[in-house]
Amino acid sequence: MPILEGSIGVEDLVLLEPLEEESLLKNLQLRYENKEIYTYIGNVVISVNPYQQLPIYGPEFIAKYQDYTFYELKPHIYALANVAYQSLRDRDRDQCILITGESGAGKTEASKLVMSYVAAVCGKGEQVNSVKEQLLQSNPVLEAFGNAKTIRNNNSSRFGKYMDIEFDFKGSPLGGVITNYLLEKSRVVKQLKGERNFHIFYQLLAGADEQLLKALKLKRDTSAYTYLNQEVSRVGGMNDASNFQDVQRAMIVIGFSEEEIRQVLEVTALVLKLGNVELTDEFQANGIPASGIRDGKGVQEIGEMVGLNSEEVERALCSRTMETGKEKVVTVLNVIQAQYARDALAKNIYSRLFNWIVNRINESIKVGTGEKKKVMGVLDIYGFEILEDNSFEQFVINYCNEKLQQVFIELTLKEEQEEYKREGIPWTKVDYFDNGIICNLIEHNQRGILAMLDEECLRPGVVSDSTFLAKLNQLFSNHSHYESKVTQNAQRLYDHSMGLSCFRICHYAGKVMYNVTSFIDKNNDLLFRDLSQAMWKAQHPLLRSLFPEGNPKQVSLKRPPTAGSQFKNSVAILMKNLYSKNPNYIRCIKPNEHQQQGRFSPELVAVQARYLGLLENVRVRRAGYAHRQGYKSFLERYRLLSRSTWPHWNGGDREGVEKLLGELSISSEELAFGKTKIFIRSPKTLFYLEEQRRLRIQQLATLIQKIYRGWRCRTHYQLMRKSQILISAWFRGNKQKKYYGRMKASALLIQAFVRGWKARKNYRKYFRSGAALTLANFIYKSIAQKFLLGLKNNLPSTDVLDNTWPAAPYKCFNSANQELHQLFHQWKCKKFRDQLSPKQVQVLREKLCASELFKGKKASYPQSVPIPFRGDYIGLQSNPKLQKLKGRQEEPILVAEMVKKVNRGNGKTSARILLLTKGHVILTDTKKTQAKTIIGLDNVSGVSVTSLQDGLFGLHLNEMSPVGSKGDFLLVSDHVVELLTKMYQAVLDATQRQLSVTVTEGFSVRFKESSVAIKVIQGPGHGEKSKLICKKKGSNCLEVTVQ
Ligand SMILES: Nc1ncnc2c1ncn2[C@@H]1O[C@H](COP(=O)(O)OP(=O)(O)OP(=O)(O)O)[C@@H](O)[C@H]1O
Ligand SMILES: [Mg+2]
Repeated sequence: MPILEGSIGVEDLVLLEPLEEESLLKNLQLRYENKEIYTYIGNVVISVNPYQQLPIYGPEFIAKYQDYTFYELKPHIYALANVAYQSLRDRDRDQCILITGESGAGKTEASKLVMSYVAAVCGKGEQVNSVKEQLLQSNPVLEAFGNAKTIRNNNSSRFGKYMDIEFDFKGSPLGGVITNYLLEKSRVVKQLKGERNFHIFYQLLAGADEQLLKALKLKRDTSAYTYLNQEVSRVGGMNDASNFQDVQRAMIVIGFSEEEIRQVLEVTALVLKLGNVELTDEFQANGIPASGIRDGKGVQEIGEMVGLNSEEVERALCSRTMETGKEKVVTVLNVIQAQYARDALAKNIYSRLFNWIVNRINESIKVGTGEKKKVMGVLDIYGFEILEDNSFEQFVINYCNEKLQQVFIELTLKEEQEEYKREGIPWTKVDYFDNGIICNLIEHNQRGILAMLDEECLRPGVVSDSTFLAKLNQLFSNHSHYESKVTQNAQRLYDHSMGLSCFRICHYAGKVMYNVTSFIDKNNDLLFRDLSQAMWKAQHPLLRSLFPEGNPKQVSLKRPPTAGSQFKNSVAILMKNLYSKNPNYIRCIKPNEHQQQGRFSPELVAVQARYLGLLENVRVRRAGYAHRQGYKSFLERYRLLSRSTWPHWNGGDREGVEKLLGELSISSEELAFGKTKIFIRSPKTLFYLEEQRRLRIQQLATLIQKIYRGWRCRTHYQLMRKSQILISAWFRGNKQKKYYGRMKASALLIQAFVRGWKARKNYRKYFRSGAALTLANFIYKSIAQKFLLGLKNNLPSTDVLDNTWPAAPYKCFNSANQELHQLFHQWKCKKFRDQLSPKQVQVLREKLCASELFKGKKASYPQSVPIPFRGDYIGLQSNPKLQKLKGRQEEPILVAEMVKKVNRGNGKTSARILLLTKGHVILTDTKKTQAKTIIGLDNVSGVSVTSLQDGLFGLHLNEMSPVGSKGDFLLVSDHVVELLTKMYQAVLDATQRQLSVTVTEGFSVRFKESSVAIKVIQGPGHGEKSKLICKKKGSNCLEVTVQ
């Protein structure tokens, strides 16, 4: 059966083959069992109640359906809502969404889906969101007060609702108007078996907190209230307590004040309490039966709650005042009558409260009158009802459904076919059942059932339900859609299901038998004036406002319109409203009687499919055209698709459309040209046109943008260019002006120079040139002469140590003067040197050598400079004993003095006499007369001294020499500078070798194959004569402290 890939069955019944009831049902069943609950017939959506939550709703799906056209995705209510909304927004056509079906078929759910879709896709913004919220939140409030559990539906709408949502030109919601139709108020006082009263009563008792219950003087227990059905106080899957919170929240969102909410709940509580008022038999003195209140407490509580005198309530319930002419007669009511009055009051209070709530919501969501609005109406009205015992309510409900079916027939079947005829399109007529005859039977102004009922209510004399029935029997004895016991008897038909007080109407959806009992009463819908007057006297503002007719000043003797005629009028208004809008249909189907998921009863669905006229709908749709539009508006919308018609078309509208569609090469089967309209067969073609239009608009928008941008850039560029030329002109001018100024100044300067030069040239011959130079030279020479002569006469002394020299009189002689000073000094020195004796020369040479060796290196050097080197410090010349020490060495003695020899092993010192000859160093004991150690100068490899002010020195010997093999000497001399200077010179003279003299902080001396490190430390003392303390530190170190 699947025709399109991926689809289950056929998604659009127009494609169904063969087109029969059986295949149609099978297709619906197949889809239903695969959880595909929506199916199309063209643009009509068939919805089969799934009785389970399917994952096909929510923002994700809304977003999807918003982006695609009708047939691109699976059938869905969202797709229908999207088409309706777009047509409203883009084509400016008011829409209505007609949701029909039996009770429990899913109408209310469908209407909520439509509303939530529209709310999600229409404009955004704080203001808009609050309007949306108010519109959406009206649902829970109306459902609480107007819905109840019935045997068919746990959340059955017991009122009809038509809601106009109003939008601005952008498609943003502005507000709305709700119209409600005939609340089933009899439910307030009595419910069928297995049914409940309106939800709000149960919600209030379950959800109110203790404080609220106490304030309302209520008990939580539902069994305490006569009006609440004791058997089914709970509904599976419905949480009354949390719903109560939701309702309160919703009321706040809509704009109910806290006070208003409280008053609404008080009136609701009042209804419950009224039900508990028990009436008893009483008798008047004359034996006439009367009634009284059994327990005054209940009435008293009511009185306290709404600010009423309890006696007055009692009087109003138990008696009735009749006005005949100018007299007032009070009659007592028996118990039955009093109970009737009590129930009538309860029903009236509740239904008026419901109307008040609807009006209050309307007040919040109403739109200012000045604004131009587009409207989308959503109709969710009670479904067709066939109960066991059908009364006045079912009669009007079914009448309403009959009318809606008529709208459907008129707009989709009849009007469509007639239009083809009018437009001259070839057409084979599709037969369908026209329910006009049934509507007529009910609503005909003179001869309709409702008119008869009104007539009977108004007629003077004895009036009863049976007289009404008799009248109907008489009038409709031959009517094909009317049956009763009488008409059947007349035709000799025997039907024992037909009651004596019943009549039957063959509705489009099936035969329904109505019991006429209480038709008259319900139609009259009269509330005893005593009751309304009593209510008007209440202090409670809301209750009082519900009974304006109770005001004695406003007493009108005019009869209020009957319930039937009121309903007929409001249905007529509704029909007018619907006919003025573009209809969109959702046909709801109930798959089974048990509210069970996954169960599809073909018989039940077949009945619904039949009376909904689905097959006829498919036939008309198949043969017909999906879209039609006047040539003018069609051309206006699509002419931009062709170059011939865009931007200008001078011909007629029809020719334009023909030309346009010809160029778009749409197959001729898809089109039919009527007298005034073009007909397009399949929606695909229309979507194709729309898509092309959308693309073309984009192109045109781009073109406009392009041209505009080009123009903007060009003008901007031209402006820039003009400015640039102006700026450069000014700049160049300015630059040239400055350049000219500079040139002019330079020319003037050159002119001045040239003129000056010329003048000087001319005038030179008149002056002595070079006189200044001659004069300057002369003056300079004379100054120099004066300076030199002055110097000659004032020469300083010739003492070499006198370094004074006169300063130059002029700066220019500074360097010459310096030179002269130096020459003079050198001359003085030469003179001084020339007069020195060879000995003095020798002494100076030694001093010079000492300075070279020790100046700036050893601390004791400066002290040694002024002291002449004596050489002999031990009186050698005069002491023959010491003379012997020389031994065999014949060389002259250069130095003879006492030294200390430091023992390298332990640091102790011992005195020695040291002699330095031209070839040797001789060391000897002071007491002995023989030389102890004689060291040839060629064996002395070097000496080491410290930088401090001490006499310590190391005499390093050649290791190879016999003396040197024992190691170096560590000696202390008081004339170490002189001794070492002379030793240096002696070594130089004897061996032509420069003795290495090392001035250092620490040195090492060889001692028996190893070396001893000598570390010299400056002690605290700084005396003239330094003292040495030698300390052995470890085996190879000797620390010498200089004090
Ligand atoms: N699309 C849906 N998805 C899930 N459940 C649904 C859907 N439509 C309907 N139902 C179920 O069916 C129940 C009855 O639906 P709804 O109240 O809309 O019926 P109705 O046609 O308005 O009946 P009535 O004429 O009695 O008011 C809902 O309470 C819900 O449980
Ligand atoms: Mg409903």
